[in-house]
Amino acid sequence: MHGPGDTRAFDRFARVYDALMPPARRAPVEAGLALADRRVDRLLDVAGGPGRASAGLDVPRTVVVDAAPGMCRRALARGREAAVGDAARLPVADESVDAVLVADALHHLPDRDAALRAARAALRPGGVLVVREFDPVTLRGRVVVAAERAVGFGSTFEGPDALATRVERTGLTPTVVDRGFGYTVVGKRER
Ligand SMILES: C[S@@+](CC[C@H](N)C(=O)[O-])C[C@H]1O[C@@H](n2cnc3c(N)ncnc32)[C@H](O)[C@@H]1O
Repeated sequence: MHGPGDTRAFDRFARVYDALMPPARRAPVEAGLALADRRVDRLLDVAGGPGRASAGLDVPRTVVVDAAPGMCRRALARGREAAVGDAARLPVADESVDAVLVADALHHLPDRDAALRAARAALRPGGVLVVREFDPVTLRGRVVVAAERAVGFGSTFEGPDALATRVERTGLTPTVVDRGFGYTVVGKRER
């Protein structure tokens, strides 16, 4: 209904997205980045929208990648680096970044495994993929699932253990950093 990854809707709502969304929690993302075995100098905020979840992180260079051009324009207007791109085909060289962040977005991606594989390829050894998601079995998670269905989004949600298994299948070492309505799973690239 809203196109692959619901990007047509996100493109339309890009201008008001920041005003409608609560600020992202920085602490769990920082806890995830701290699991890297290398300094995090370069981060990709994948399906990053206007860059909400990576704003304010202490990382020298962050690039937002999003499939919705309107979201990238918002990111650029906020003074962020941004590129239009598909999470499954990241516009960067292999082993060129220290961390990849996917915040509140994996459930929208039409091919989550392809996106995780692309993140792994982009990571340097010792780098980390940090995923923030919603747990659909929690009370607030059930509300989010129902709300996204009601507006016609094609979202697919899973809990932290299922995501950790998916991350491990991609060849990354998984850690569940925190659990609850919003949870965090990290995958580290060992080599
Ligand atoms: C709910 S928003 C989350 C944005 C941001 N990460 C945040 O925390 O606010 C989901 C984003 O995923 C993007 N998206 C959906 N499918 C995508 C894809 N295949 N590749 C890149 N971005 C995609 C949408 O355009 C949208 O900006």
